[in-house]
Amino acid sequence: MSNEHNIVILISGSGSNMAAIVRAARRDNWAQKYRARVAAVISNKADAGGLAQAQELGVLTEVVEHQVFSDRDDPRGAFDAELARRIESHRPALVVLAGFMRILSPSFVAQFQGRLMNIHPSLLPAFPGLHTHQRALDAGCRVTGATVHMVTADLDSGPILAQAVVPVVLGDTAGTLVERVLHQEHLIYPAAIEAWLSQHAAA
Ligand code: GRF
Repeated sequence: MSNEHNIVILISGSGSNMAAIVRAARRDNWAQKYRARVAAVISNKADAGGLAQAQELGVLTEVVEHQVFSDRDDPRGAFDAELARRIESHRPALVVLAGFMRILSPSFVAQFQGRLMNIHPSLLPAFPGLHTHQRALDAGCRVTGATVHMVTADLDSGPILAQAVVPVVLGDTAGTLVERVLHQEHLIYPAAIEAWLSQHAAA
């Protein structure tokens, strides 16, 4: 339907943020408020746990495996082009990265500029990149958290939409922080998407 505001979610792993977004969309009636729905979940890994979760939630799933392109002259460009083609087939108003563990090329980011969102498990601009919880512990941070941001060509550095602060307590490990931060991610990511929809896709 041309007046739908389709959301496409990209995952690589367990998909807990994806599931939180799908559930929030239903619970908070995004279909009626914004004519918005999660149209598809796309993974770059065929064994991503989130694919089964998405199917249980009744959401269409697709796989675009990056390894398939490894023998091309430009593997990253070929993968990004195919991924972009599959995403665009859903005519998305918004593309949501939820634990999608591939760095996207500048041309991919340019194609989706202004409609590409990510969540990162640190209080950006602190700790872009990987191993954020261990790095926060090693630095002696008393707080850490998560950030929802628009995606730009520079890694983990686009305009910030939402943040949640999580205290670091005595005895915390990267494992305990993962859990407490994820709990907050599941709250702020749907909220940030709904705020974006209310600005860009009001019914
Ligand atoms: C989250 O911590 C997110 O911030 C990061 O990757 C993780 C994905 O977890 N980008 P899940 O697949 O949503 O459970």
